[in-house]
Amino acid sequence: MTRAFVTGWPVAHSRSPLIHGHWLSAFGIEGSYEKIAVPPEKAPDFFGALPGSGFAGGNVTVPHKETALRAASRLDATAAAIGAVNTLWLEDGTLCGGNTDAYGFAANLDALLPGWDGTEDVVILGAGGAARAVLHAVLDRSRARVRVINRTVARAEALAEAFGPRVSGHGEGEQRALLRHADLLVNTVSKDMAKAAGDGDALPELDSLPDHAMVSDIVYVPLETPLLRAARRRGLAAADGLGMLLHQAVPGFERWFGVRPEVTAALRDLVVSDIERVP
Ligand code: ATR
Repeated sequence: MTRAFVTGWPVAHSRSPLIHGHWLSAFGIEGSYEKIAVPPEKAPDFFGALPGSGFAGGNVTVPHKETALRAASRLDATAAAIGAVNTLWLEDGTLCGGNTDAYGFAANLDALLPGWDGTEDVVILGAGGAARAVLHAVLDRSRARVRVINRTVARAEALAEAFGPRVSGHGEGEQRALLRHADLLVNTVSKDMAKAAGDGDALPELDSLPDHAMVSDIVYVPLETPLLRAARRRGLAAADGLGMLLHQAVPGFERWFGVRPEVTAALRDLVVSDIERVP
């Protein structure tokens, strides 16, 4: 029996077992995909013990993605560029790390906002780990110029430094001016996080976006974020972030279980019901 896992701290909230469990039963594969909660101080030992553990590999979520990057003996080019590993697998006993978040982001937009990769001016809100994956996907798939806007401007500037001359870093004060000629706006800042800090209602000013602009939120709880609602109300094409979660799971499942699964409406419905039950 092939075994895979998702690890994080905490990990109870992870919807990955639902996704992989759905595919395992759809294909009739005798395999397992389990949650393993690992506290940060134990993460290096956990990853170090994976060769010979019987696991084919697994997913890594917050806060272990950088630890997994350091633990892997071999990295794919995407994980190295993003600086984080979300997917691990074993090749001849060697621990390998990849990052499928950028793929998941692009595949979701391919499905929901076709033509997104032909845009020339992209604005990304946020400069954390999720923004790095989005940035990698946008640079890889399009010729766009990317402006990263972040509360802490130094972090946005550091991303620009790391990702090269097509990227620039900006503070929130420049948002209105930058949105005026944006073709695609991507939010990577969790409004829960923002709300906890007391300013969750501070939406970007969508009225300054051009009429042809597309809007994407990688946050998927709630499924329709205030940003997406505002975008749709303005008549802009908008994509929620759930598809990124579903699509990023595809390459991992294929590596561990040997079959490439599909992101279907049935899978999406399953996860949507789960979000409605436990947001
Ligand atoms: P993730 O992996 O989800 O991107 P992260 O690496 O912790 O998480 O990054 C969180 C992002 O949300 C950052 O861009 C952060 O801005 P700062 O760099 O200024 O901290 C942003 N963020 C979090 N709370 C915010 C708030 N209240 N207002 C604006 N941005 C916020």
